[in-house]
Amino acid sequence: MAVLGLDVGTGGSRAVIVEADGSVTAAASEPHAPFDAPRTGWAEQHPGDWWRASQAAVRAALAAGGTAPGAIRAVGLSGQMHGAVLLDAAGAVVRPAIIWCDQRTDAQCRRLTDEVGAARLIELVGNPALTGFTLPKLLWVRDEEPAQWERVRTVLLPKDYVRWRLTGERATDVADASGTLLFDVARRCWSSELLGRVGIDAASLPAAHEGPAVTGRLARAGAEATGLAVGTPVVAGGGDQAAGAVGMGIVGPGAVSATIGTSGVVFAATDRPARDPRGRVHTFCHAAPGRWHVMGVTQGAGLSLRWLRDTLGAGAGGADGPGDPYDRLCAEAAAAPPGADGVLWAPYLMGERTPHLDPHARAALVGLSAAHGRAHVIRAVLEGVAFSLRDSLTVFDEMGVPATRIRLGGGGARSRLWRQIQADVYRRPVDVPAAEEGAAYGAALLAGVGAGVWGSVDEACAGAVRVAGTVAPDPGAMETLDGHYRRFRALYGALRPLAGR
Ligand code: XUL
Repeated sequence: MAVLGLDVGTGGSRAVIVEADGSVTAAASEPHAPFDAPRTGWAEQHPGDWWRASQAAVRAALAAGGTAPGAIRAVGLSGQMHGAVLLDAAGAVVRPAIIWCDQRTDAQCRRLTDEVGAARLIELVGNPALTGFTLPKLLWVRDEEPAQWERVRTVLLPKDYVRWRLTGERATDVADASGTLLFDVARRCWSSELLGRVGIDAASLPAAHEGPAVTGRLARAGAEATGLAVGTPVVAGGGDQAAGAVGMGIVGPGAVSATIGTSGVVFAATDRPARDPRGRVHTFCHAAPGRWHVMGVTQGAGLSLRWLRDTLGAGAGGADGPGDPYDRLCAEAAAAPPGADGVLWAPYLMGERTPHLDPHARAALVGLSAAHGRAHVIRAVLEGVAFSLRDSLTVFDEMGVPATRIRLGGGGARSRLWRQIQADVYRRPVDVPAAEEGAAYGAALLAGVGAGVWGSVDEACAGAVRVAGTVAPDPGAMETLDGHYRRFRALYGALRPLAGR
């Protein structure tokens, strides 16, 4: 008895096979072709390539686990969010999918905000018009490629194209649907008012289901392509952020994760659709039924440390020196005291989402004197990233969203120093998960709930997700860093007039 989770990411697709005790018995990944950037700021991928990689990943995971197809009780899907997959009446792909990081829709976002009104948009769909979301992409295709748009009969999200190939069903989940800007996040259904106002046909959209709901079964073609058994149930699953949160056990009110990858995401599960009237955080349905989540994003989180490594070097031996270059940077930073003797880092290397929503924001290293050395600069960068994630917690606080327990993820959970800095900056104990299997693991747990292995998503997380340890904040460091956080808060406003354009 096992379940299979499949994450259709940006860089690749990954399949994991999970047993009823939550253990992973096999996993396999297959890279995607790099995305095309026909112009600066554009990003496109080919849905057929996701399907190819998904087949390969599922086949490889079944082979690695020596798992008989009949042993898989259900399949759960997760994937990169916000992409626009456009199909014609025959189900053929009309044009390459415009994906989440594509930035071409500035004009459509401005028009949408003018026509619907910024406040009304947040009332209808929980979020402001952001260039990465799906609806502005549909409007762009309608404006710029009217002949292609004429042919469009179906709009799907990336993982749901794979679902369609597996089962023949047009379906999605409420978490992924929330990132389209067409979904009434509060009522967990498509927004007929917004669809009417923008002139998009509701019949072109897939049915939206709760994360653990079965949306269809493996059809013969899907089974032959993947090696799975005909008739295997496929559950709705979740967009990668919601599914990843399920995989980390972030499902109930008060539970928060802080994940530092290239970008940093602070994710809080909620029992109501908490909305920020200023749209500084995303408000989406959670993959757990009856739950929502809010999410703040720091664009240049892990990216800050990578930039430092690439520009200032990784210390002894450079990139080819002994051990992991990031470990060496963090070891060096530990020689500087909490607060880095006054050096501050504003991590706006790629503009900023939360809380500034400013693509033109720029990074800065502030407060240097001749007495400061490399250790201070590296430590300031680690602290600056944590301050920026704390900005999301500050917005949650203003919204009345509780954050009682914080679980760390990504590279920020692997460094002992960065873990301590985060506990000190967030002013709370932080949990470190025993293993991080990513969104595919969360999708597998949702499949397990759909198949009746666990009674609910809460039960699945309680049974499967393990914490390796907890880091307590250090009272002295916490006070020092609190003072520095207040200085950090003043940085963005001070820098704004100086940011080069
Ligand atoms: C979520 C987001 C990313 C993408 C790509 O809002 O933009 O997580 O889903 O992984």
